[in-house]
Amino acid sequence: MNVVCIGSGYVGSVTGAAFAALGHQTTVIDIDQAKVEMLNAKRSPIYEPGLDILIAKTIGNTLFASTSYQAVYDADVVFIGVGTPEKADGSADLTYIRRAAASIAKHLNPHRFTVIVNKSTVPVGTADLVSSIIEEESLLEAELDFAVISNPEFLREGYAVEDVFFPDRVVIGTENERARAAMRTLYHNLIERAGYDAICRDLPFTANLHSPAAVYFETDTKSAEMIKYASNAFLAVKISYINEVARLSEALGANVLDVAKGIGLDSRIGEKFLQVSSGWSGSCFPKDTAEFLATSQKYGSELSTVKAAVESNLKMHLFVVEKIQRQLKTLNGKHIGILGLTFKPNTDDARKTQATVIIEKLLELGAHISVHDPQGMPMFRALNKNLAVRYCDSPLDVAHAADALILLTHWQEYQTLDWRQVSRKMRSSYVLDTRNVLCRKQLEELGLLCEGLGIGVTDRKASGHAQAQVGSVRL
Ligand code: UDX
Repeated sequence: MNVVCIGSGYVGSVTGAAFAALGHQTTVIDIDQAKVEMLNAKRSPIYEPGLDILIAKTIGNTLFASTSYQAVYDADVVFIGVGTPEKADGSADLTYIRRAAASIAKHLNPHRFTVIVNKSTVPVGTADLVSSIIEEESLLEAELDFAVISNPEFLREGYAVEDVFFPDRVVIGTENERARAAMRTLYHNLIERAGYDAICRDLPFTANLHSPAAVYFETDTKSAEMIKYASNAFLAVKISYINEVARLSEALGANVLDVAKGIGLDSRIGEKFLQVSSGWSGSCFPKDTAEFLATSQKYGSELSTVKAAVESNLKMHLFVVEKIQRQLKTLNGKHIGILGLTFKPNTDDARKTQATVIIEKLLELGAHISVHDPQGMPMFRALNKNLAVRYCDSPLDVAHAADALILLTHWQEYQTLDWRQVSRKMRSSYVLDTRNVLCRKQLEELGLLCEGLGIGVTDRKASGHAQAQVGSVRL
């Protein structure tokens, strides 16, 4: 098929490269000339493992990039994958969506049925909005000449390439039969995993051809739009919940690693998304929970669980500061090192990260802050120009004369750090591991006092890794 993806950010570039790899003639359109030039030079416009490889394989063959909307004229399917930033009141800013819709309208072919797909995360009812903009601007008739549908994207940053080829589900929201037929054709190779041998050969996937196939789920447009928000909000609630359980475990003397394991063994709950952290953040959860909540309040049906999860998440960020303060007492003049600025590993994305909230608070309390992140420093620096922090070239540099270190993002590089060297460089010895990934026993042998989050036990469970003997205990 002829496919167009508007936007070359996380959604547009990954979707475009994936459909190109699946054999469709795909054009990624972006108004930013620099991003288009990067794509044409076989480079990914974003940091995303595997995307460079995918682009290099497809660009010039089945993948094309352009600043012009011309390719819309021959397109069977046009994906809208532009940004939907958060407005001050929490609702989504649809400026870029409106602009993309107007531009698509000007280039639609009146003699061809075109499916326009909202792939960006957009509030319920946005397909109707896009449809009315296109009708007004093109004088074509919705549902007859074109249809606007919803096909939300569930990919995770850092695993976007894997997620796009091995999704749990593909959700298609439309009641238009021609649009449904077009989307079935478009997704055929993905659902059937046709050509996957070649695709998988060069890519670092953990999923494989034996993993369960994606469920192809068709529904109406509004339900599809809602599924995206309801999914992300559910995951946010799940993390906030385990983080609260972590705080209570710590107070009561339980080990949240074992508690999470024990809970997750119930197949109705599942083990995923029960990892304790200093809170969830990033470019999706904060924005999506805010929009979902704002909508629910606007329509008199407040999502009180989501509201509580958002409030609890901020408490979790500040719990880190509390723990540091409890250990160092006054923070005035103390040197604190931060390892990790991105909202999770394997991304350069430092938008809406808890590092900002935590650093702001520590600075307010008079601490001196040094920071390091393997990928996230340029974006963090650009977004936080007002923060007086010292940017370091290495984690060891962060450790130099530090009174405390906080591991915020569990980059592999920090887990395999030479902690003996760290110990030698620090002025004092406190390490706060907010992801519970370090081996506390080993660090203690090196003279460091390492604490995790939610670990209220001291003796036999000092190793820092999940302890429960699941499945290996003979009864
Ligand atoms: C999320 C959704 O997972 C994805 O389906 C959607 O398309 C976009 O939003 P992403 O923002 O890339 O993806 O990050 P994700 O891996 O889901 O993590 C979100 C946040 O939750 C991160 O800050 C992460 O560190 C945190 N998290 C995740 C936890 O604190 N504990 C967990 O158990 C899982």
